[in-house]
Order: sequence, then C-alpha cells, then structure tokens
Amino acid sequence: MADAMTAYTQSLAIDARMVAEDIWGSQAHALMLGEVGLLSPEELRVILTWLERARDDHEAGRLVLRPELEDVHMNVERYLIDGAGAEFGGKLHTARSRNDQGLTDCRLYVRARLLDTEAALQALCRAMLDLAAAHVETVMPGYTHTQHAQPITFGYWAAAHVSVWLRDLRRIGNAYDIVNLSPLGACALAGTDLPIDRALTAKLLGFDGVLEHALDATSSRDFLAETLSALAILMLHMSRLGEELVYWSSHEFRMIELSDAYTSGSSIMPQKKNPDCAELTRGKAARVVGDLMALLTCLKSLSMGYSRDLQEDKPPVWDALDQTLGALATLHGAVSTLTVKPERMRELVDANFATATQLANWLVVARDVPFRRAHEIVGKLVRALTDEGKRLTDTARVAELLGEQDVSAGDELADVLNPLLGVARQASQGGPAPEETRRMIAGFGGALAEAEADTLARAERVAAARAETAQRVAAAMG
Ligand code: ARG
Repeated sequence: MADAMTAYTQSLAIDARMVAEDIWGSQAHALMLGEVGLLSPEELRVILTWLERARDDHEAGRLVLRPELEDVHMNVERYLIDGAGAEFGGKLHTARSRNDQGLTDCRLYVRARLLDTEAALQALCRAMLDLAAAHVETVMPGYTHTQHAQPITFGYWAAAHVSVWLRDLRRIGNAYDIVNLSPLGACALAGTDLPIDRALTAKLLGFDGVLEHALDATSSRDFLAETLSALAILMLHMSRLGEELVYWSSHEFRMIELSDAYTSGSSIMPQKKNPDCAELTRGKAARVVGDLMALLTCLKSLSMGYSRDLQEDKPPVWDALDQTLGALATLHGAVSTLTVKPERMRELVDANFATATQLANWLVVARDVPFRRAHEIVGKLVRALTDEGKRLTDTARVAELLGEQDVSAGDELADVLNPLLGVARQASQGGPAPEETRRMIAGFGGALAEAEADTLARAERVAAARAETAQRVAAAMG
C-alpha cells in the first residue's frame, strides 16, 4: 500500500477505543472454537493466555497500536501471533471475519456507553425533580411566543423537562435493545461451513440474542442510526433547556442565576458571567444532529454486503456519545447549583397582565358571561390599564373599569387576580396547580425509579456475562 493509502484508510484512530471489547469478543470466540472442537485444549490455552497478556498490557498502557495494521482487530491479532506464534495465534481468526468481529466490538462498546447515558440522564432527572418539588408554589410567568401568557410555577416548568426526558430514556432503551444482539458468527457476509455455536458467543458476551441473518448482520447499521437518533433527539431537548437557561439568567429576565462553577468570565469585561454551559449545549446539539445526518447519508445507497464506506460509521457515533455525555454531566451540575429568584419571578408575573385569563374565567363562572364576551371585557380593561400605566394588581381600578362595562366586582377580586391562587385553580389534569404538580412529580419519580432499576439490571447482566467469560477463560488456561 502507498503511504497515503495506508494513512487514508486506517481506522485505528477511531477503533482504538474498542481494545477491551476486541479482547472480550476474541475470548468468547476462542472459547466457542474450543467448545466445538475447532481448537484443541492446548491451542485454546495458549491463545487465551496471550489475549490475557494483551489485556494486561492494554490496561497498563503498554499495548502499542500500529496504524499501519489498519485497525484494532489486526493489532490485537498481531500481538497474539507475535507472542504465541503463528501456529497458535493464527488459529483465532478461524470462522471469523473482521466484519462480524468489528461489529461485535462496536455493539459492546455502544451498549456500555448507552448505559452510561441512561445513568447520566437519570441523575439529571433526579436533580430536576428535586428542583421541581422545592418550587411547586414558586409562581413565575408561563410563556407562549416568549410573551407572558399565564402564571405557572418554576416547579411545574422543571417537571415538564423531566416529562420529556422520560421519553428520551425510553428511546435510548429501545436503541439498546436493537444494539444488544450478537453479529458474531455472521463472518464476512454468509456465515461459515464450520460448526460454530453462535448462541454460545452471544451468551458469553451478554447479548440478548443472535442477529441471525449474516448478510443483514454484517452490512446494516441501523443499530447505530437508532442510537444516533435517540441521542440527537435528547440533545435537541438539552438544547431547549440550554436556551431557557441562557435567557432566564440574563439581566432582562434575572429569574435564575447560574453558579460561578458553570459560567465563565470575559477576557476584557470584568463584570461578565456568561452561561457558556447552556450556550455550548445548543451548539453541540447542532453537532450531534449533524452526526446523525452524516451516518444516514453514509448508509443510504449501500447494497447488502460490507462496503468500506461502513468504516465511517463510528466517528459520528463516538462524537455524539461524547458530546451527549458531556452535556448531561454539565447541565446536571448547572441545574443542581442554580439559584432561583422567586421575588423577581413574582415581579414579572405582576408586571404584565399574566392573570388576565383568570379574570376572564371568573366572569364566566361567577357572572355567567359567555367566554367570548368575557375575553372582550378583559381585553378592553387591559387596554385601559395600559393607557393609564396601571396593572391588574390595582384591584380598585380594575373594579371601577369592570363597573364601566356593567360588571359588578366584589371583594373577591383580589383573590381572583392573585397569581398563586390562580395557579392553584388550574387543577385540570396536567395543570400547574401545586397538588397536581406534586402528583405528577410523584408519578415521574416512580417512572424514573423503574428506569433506574432497569438500567441497573441490564448493567448487571453485562457484568455477569463478563464474569462468566473470565471464569471460563481461567478454567481453560488451567
Ligand atoms: N477497518 C475496517 C472497518 O473498520 C475493518 C473491516 C474491514 N473489512 C473488510 N472487508 N475490509 O470497517
């Protein structure tokens, strides 16, 4: 190969992070070859011994990976052949291709990172639920069109993000199920004429089952597209949160303050406190959406059977996993340490007619006014107050203006226009009333506990498979 060709075609820079997976996959494959009689006990012992040494060297940072060998698979195999000799090391690749081998490594790696992502998202959900529970009576403006709409509470807003993220957890769990199937034994494209046992390697690697069709297993990457879709949608949601953190921490809003640990200063303006964590999350969401597009575009014209284009499958996935895990950790920190400004929130609620709908609904209920008429009455009233530079908190003036439109308002007006009481009356299913918010928070907490238990159970199944492999390796090595 020409030097330029070698440099251009190597994938080591990307697959170097799958050394541990490549060794685990090779151990499972070797144990299976031993089991079906394709390796003698002695051959198996020598191969496993050198794979263990490769792992020790890798863990000690001593394993030298050479780009001219193209990828992690050729490097591990070369280590084995150099150490054990070709008559032993050269037998590991029996009934295996780099196509099924690489995909095995990739699925093992992505599976582990998806579990990390779930755990990180669950931690963020917990932090947000704590924030929600502490603020079910902290009134703030609810926005539509980024304009004051109706009062809600900060806790209600926080719980909305958890409501979204619980779906993200389901999407990641779905991706996990699609990822966690064994391609090993599919070989290059069409299986093998040797008597392999695919169920055994699947079991030793902790896969939920075998992805049977060898041509599909070796040339499809929808398990990565599924993963990237789930990550891109999650990052889009993190970016929405980032957007709110950016403008709510601005001087114009001042509804929250981010901790110094999650903001940065300016090299020239001494007073600056910039919400970089939130801004970068918006920026990185763009990148992860781009990662998804890169993969989908790479896949769209590929026929059945491996093509080298597929070597480009991993870079966008690695990037998306890294960026998403970074965003989750950072926003978890930012959310856990932010300061809520209830007085400022209340000031904004009082400033701009957010309780107008409460007044209209009171006309409907207490004065039997048809809603459209009530809307008109309150609309006129708001215009008059605006002209006079007054607010809905000026209940005496509100009563007079209602009187001018033939509506008698009694002492109850102050209660009708009280934002917290108004929120408390928004008790329809899914509304911001404190008791309804508390009920939803409890429900979300329950769903989260189930998701956490499920993640833990899957992590334990993976650990058990790893332990079983290690135990069989030890037994075969004698
Ligand atoms: N380095 C390659 C990759 O990552 C390994 C697979 C090579 N297979 C092949 N048939 N050339 O995709």
